[in-house]
Amino acid sequence: MEKDQKKKKLVFRLNTFILLLSLPLLFFGLDFFVFGQRISFDQHFHGGTAAKKTVDEKEFIKFHLSRLVRGEDRRKLDETGFACDTAVHSVHCVSTKPVRIDTGNMTVYIPSGSDVQNETSIRPYARQEDLPKPISPVRMILYGNNTDPPSCEFHHGLPAVVFSSGSTGNVFHEINDIIIPLYITTKQFGSRVLLVVEDYKPSFVAKYRAILSRLSYHEPINPATNATVHCFPSTVVGLKYHDNLALNASDIPGGYGMPAFRTFLRATFSLRYAHVSQVPRPRLVLLSRTGTRRFLNEDEMIDMIKDAGFQVLVVKRSKLASNIEKFSRLINSCSVLLGAHGAGLTNEIFLPTGAVMIQVELLGTEWASNTYYGDTARAMGVRYLRYRIDPDESSLVKLYGRNSSVVTDPGSVFIQRGLIPARIVFLDQQNVRINLARFRETIVEALSIVTDSFAR
Ligand SMILES: *[C@@H]1O[C@H](CO)[C@@H](O)[C@H](O)[C@H]1NC(C)=O
Ligand SMILES: *[C@@H]1O[C@H](CO)[C@@H](O)[C@H](O)[C@H]1NC(C)=O
Ligand SMILES: *[C@@H]1O[C@H](CO)[C@@H](O)[C@H](O)[C@H]1NC(C)=O
Ligand SMILES: *[C@@H]1O[C@H](CO)[C@@H](O)[C@H](O)[C@H]1NC(C)=O
Ligand SMILES: *[C@@H]1O[C@H](CO)[C@@H](O)[C@H](O)[C@H]1NC(C)=O
Ligand SMILES: *[C@@H]1O[C@H](CO)[C@@H](O)[C@H](O)[C@H]1NC(C)=O
Repeated sequence: MEKDQKKKKLVFRLNTFILLLSLPLLFFGLDFFVFGQRISFDQHFHGGTAAKKTVDEKEFIKFHLSRLVRGEDRRKLDETGFACDTAVHSVHCVSTKPVRIDTGNMTVYIPSGSDVQNETSIRPYARQEDLPKPISPVRMILYGNNTDPPSCEFHHGLPAVVFSSGSTGNVFHEINDIIIPLYITTKQFGSRVLLVVEDYKPSFVAKYRAILSRLSYHEPINPATNATVHCFPSTVVGLKYHDNLALNASDIPGGYGMPAFRTFLRATFSLRYAHVSQVPRPRLVLLSRTGTRRFLNEDEMIDMIKDAGFQVLVVKRSKLASNIEKFSRLINSCSVLLGAHGAGLTNEIFLPTGAVMIQVELLGTEWASNTYYGDTARAMGVRYLRYRIDPDESSLVKLYGRNSSVVTDPGSVFIQRGLIPARIVFLDQQNVRINLARFRETIVEALSIVTDSFAR
């Protein structure tokens, strides 16, 4: 125990030293190595006096806030205490100065530091291009030194992170637009932030409680039921987004890549298997869609897959939404995830490394399949197998005729009819009757990948 403490103190001193060394190196990722992962916040402040703790804590927070902007934005933040990062998919603003947030009308008051008043407004949600979703704006007023902001009703010692819990119940959007960006934005603070969840959806907060409570020690604030003025030492409004179900360790704030996120998920949901070779026997989970993009011969598929040597679990879509804690463990206990292109495949993030993801690519879904779920699988070290259906396996043949451009040239439908009508055809009107003989080859390949992993 005592030895442990000495060690921590040593780490603390080293850490401070490395902090000084690494300040000019912010863009090279070293900072992350020192702060983001190896050294937790508590270790960092171990053994200091109360006054020192406060100073260090302020510096700790300021340092990590500044990692959320780069280049010109960083210079602006250093100079004025306020800057926004505007990217293709997302926008977030950082204030290192004390702010007041009136949650009644989601207005953030930030001192401008001069006699000039200015204001800006953003919708704190990633994938801005998917708006208009009903995402409420947050107004930020940079008030001049000749105006008084509303007075504080609650004082908080930690930065606020303001984001919208969105509008859909779609697991892809929940994970892609909110959970991953929230992780990217807040992980570095070591749970020492307060979440202000605009458009607060109790179902979202309940579903992702395990994740939210790991990223923040505190109960999230729901502005709709807590319309008061809250004061914070600093704030981030909006979340940093990297890419489709992706994390880029070189992007802001630096150091948060897919492996770190997967480690976080395993810890959060107590996932047992890090690697597929630990899964006791070949086990395949089939995501059974019940609305659109159904497998019309699902029972025969299941028989064939069992016959090939897998234990098969079938999960109906409605079940996906319910209990993420149980469901993540179920997915993690499987060596293969199989499904038609669709949001349910987002659950691939729970697979062990070295597992296999088989995506059935329906007509017209090739690009989306690859971009949304294929790239993610590869980034996780999960083997990605695609089963591209033949036109004759698609129900669209019956609907449009074998010679229709819908069947012979799906790409042209996107160009001629536009994105939305094309999506209706390919995503909403299409089911598939799998060619069992051909599909068996993919299943056998998956089995050999999984069994090879035992041999290693
Ligand atoms: C927000 O509401 C408060 C209290 O109702 C009001 O004083 C303030 O002017 C409002 N701010 C904006 C920007 O509407
Ligand atoms: C307000 O800011 C201006 C600079 O923009 C400064 O000249 C003035 O002295 C400041 N007033 C107060 C009361 O701080
Ligand atoms: C006011 O804010 C806008 C962006 O919201 C910015 O372009 C402009 O430079 C700001 N003006 C001043 C005086 O800070
Ligand atoms: C509003 O939030 C504050 C601080 O987070 C809390 O103390 C207070 O009880 C909340 N009020 C309501 C009505 O939820
Ligand atoms: C990751 O981020 C860096 C820095 O923003 C960028 O240069 C690089 O292209 C990104 N990588 C990918 C795969 O998007
Ligand atoms: C499709 O086109 C081919 C030749 O272009 C023709 O032989 C065939 O009868 C057509 N099939 C249908 C169902 O129209």
